[in-house]
Amino acid sequence: ATTLGASAAASGRYFGAAVAANKLSDSTYVGILNREFNSVTPENEMKIDATEPSQGQFSYTNADRIVSHAKSQGMQVRGHTLAWHSQQPGWMQNMSGAALRTAMLNHVTQVATHYKGQLSAWDVVNEAYADGNDGARRDSNLQRTGNDWIEAAFRAARAADPATKLCYNDYNTDNWSWAKTQAVYSMVRDFKSRGVPIDCVGFQSHFNSGSPYPSNYRTTLSSFAALGVDVAITELDIEGSGTTQATTYGNVVNDCLAVARCLGITVWGIRDTDSWRASGTPLLFDGNGNKKAAYTSALAALNGG
Ligand code: G3I
Repeated sequence: ATTLGASAAASGRYFGAAVAANKLSDSTYVGILNREFNSVTPENEMKIDATEPSQGQFSYTNADRIVSHAKSQGMQVRGHTLAWHSQQPGWMQNMSGAALRTAMLNHVTQVATHYKGQLSAWDVVNEAYADGNDGARRDSNLQRTGNDWIEAAFRAARAADPATKLCYNDYNTDNWSWAKTQAVYSMVRDFKSRGVPIDCVGFQSHFNSGSPYPSNYRTTLSSFAALGVDVAITELDIEGSGTTQATTYGNVVNDCLAVARCLGITVWGIRDTDSWRASGTPLLFDGNGNKKAAYTSALAALNGG
């Protein structure tokens, strides 16, 4: 096929992009989005500070704009994210203990209920593990409510929206030999063995010189899948340019295609100028919306090389 989305769909997968609500009035941006992608992830609009800016006051306007645009185009939507140490509204940053636990679970329940049945997946918990070599949980106000906060969030999400896949999502979990990868793997294995409701693991896959695309990436995806969960590449961007970048994009696509339970790929933005990496060129389209070599390579890989 001639677009990313249609090519991914040929193997039952999706090819998505992170989308910002305030760019839906940019005709170049929307033109590429509608032509190329069949899944979207709101880049910031479903985060806790956006959806519950004051405790108990929920705000869905921007997130709903993205969801309704996606629906009008027949695109899936990945929800991102219900419980995270970052982008908490001020009121939540100042909470702790049992009050925070209750507020976090209420947030999960309310937001998952608002979108019940409308999303393909939720990143229920984002980035709960620390970087470094000890495989530890990240210290955060959520972690300090008790080590079971992650499974409590998953159980609340399942109760509110039983049909949507529930994912754990993180970065620097791409290299199979890294302690953080193994720590998340152990958590997922434990959740599966105890019946904690988890359906998928998201690999953000922000590749750069500090955490490059690893040659064992496919091993990581297939090892998690062997635990009985789906896997997804959720926030892909690759630092660099030209042939080197293009080759890596092709390798990532081939790794997903090689793993039956790899649901699809989401790139974290459309044009380089849309990227959170302000000075980089990590995406598939240049600032003018032209296809880069990375695009051509990804599309060719989706179509079998
Ligand atoms: O909306 C305000 C705007 O009103 C204000 O004028 C402006 C001034 O700084 O800030 C705007 O908010 C910014 C927002 O992006 C929208 O552009 C925030 O400051 C900024 O912190 C926020 O950054 C986002 C970042 O997450 C926050 O953690 C990036 O867009 C977003 O791409 C990034 O995404 C994360 C994933 O959620 C999780 N994985 C890593 C990934 C990259 O960091």
